[in-house]
Amino acid sequence: MTLGVIGCGNMGRALIQGVVKSRRMSPRRLIGWDPDQARLRAIVRSNGIVRASSNLDLTRRAKAVLLAVKPQQMDQVLREIRPGAKRGKLVISIAAGVPIRRIQRALGPGARVIRVMPNTPALVGQGMAGISAGRGVTRADLRFARRIFEAAGQAIEIPEAWMDAVTALSGSGPAYFFFLMEAMIEAGVKLGLSRQAAQRLVKATAAGAAALALAGPQPPRKLRRQVTSKGGTTEAAFRVFKKRGLAAILRAGIFAACRRARQLSRGR
Ligand SMILES: NC(=O)c1ccc[n+]([C@@H]2O[C@H](COP(=O)([O-])OP(=O)(O)OC[C@H]3O[C@@H](n4cnc5c(N)ncnc54)[C@H](OP(=O)(O)O)[C@@H]3O)[C@@H](O)[C@H]2O)c1
Repeated sequence: MTLGVIGCGNMGRALIQGVVKSRRMSPRRLIGWDPDQARLRAIVRSNGIVRASSNLDLTRRAKAVLLAVKPQQMDQVLREIRPGAKRGKLVISIAAGVPIRRIQRALGPGARVIRVMPNTPALVGQGMAGISAGRGVTRADLRFARRIFEAAGQAIEIPEAWMDAVTALSGSGPAYFFFLMEAMIEAGVKLGLSRQAAQRLVKATAAGAAALALAGPQPPRKLRRQVTSKGGTTEAAFRVFKKRGLAAILRAGIFAACRRARQLSRGR
């Protein structure tokens, strides 16, 4: 299989690097294109992949095409690659809010489309991706898509109807954790710590908590209770979080992200 990557920005680059580093594909089987020629040159040079001369050239040369452009760039890219995507091409899109049917309509009935929602921890090989298959996609196509995204973390297969919720949860999710870290750092600074010390304490605590949550089958609630002794400091913090409705605020934010993903899917 040869894979062409259209758009070598944050996500495109992360996926190319993940696949090359994990040796899941030979770099000679990866083809890249991006309108930013300096960016493209750097990625081609550092990963040893092949450079295309346009989106259409890439599509003609690759068996599978990964669309890693912004949703608003998608219509133009689909128009450009259509002549090369007619004969049963596998097209994998990571664009938020672009449904499979829209890509299939733009490329014609021959294209087999897989839609994926990855996230930015893919940049360090710790990504989480939800994968949905469109009409005509084979088990082999899905295995191939999993191989790409598992090179940059984990992947699960989901029905497309879940995609907006997955976007709200794991697509946008890293930003929620960063926000929590920002707020904790600010609190530490207000309590008299240096910013540098607060940042180090918070980042290491976040990494440790994530590692502990991943180490076993216990739900996060149980791990939280292990930290919360009766009459202790954590309990004092949670009394305030509960009183001010922190869980309800988080839920409302995640619901808003899901609503926005739905609007984007409808082209609004
Ligand atoms: N970032 C995230 O957290 C995240 C998470 C999940 C899914 N996604 C999805 O991943 C996709 C890419 O996001 P990103 O953060 O990687 O964006 P990005 O960094 O802006 O990368 C997009 C790349 O595509 C290039 N491009 C623009 N027009 C093009 C064209 N006609 N043909 C080929 N390449 C073109 C851009 O070049 P210019 O910069 O010159 O325009 C840029 O290098 C988006 O659809 C997004 O919804 C992102």
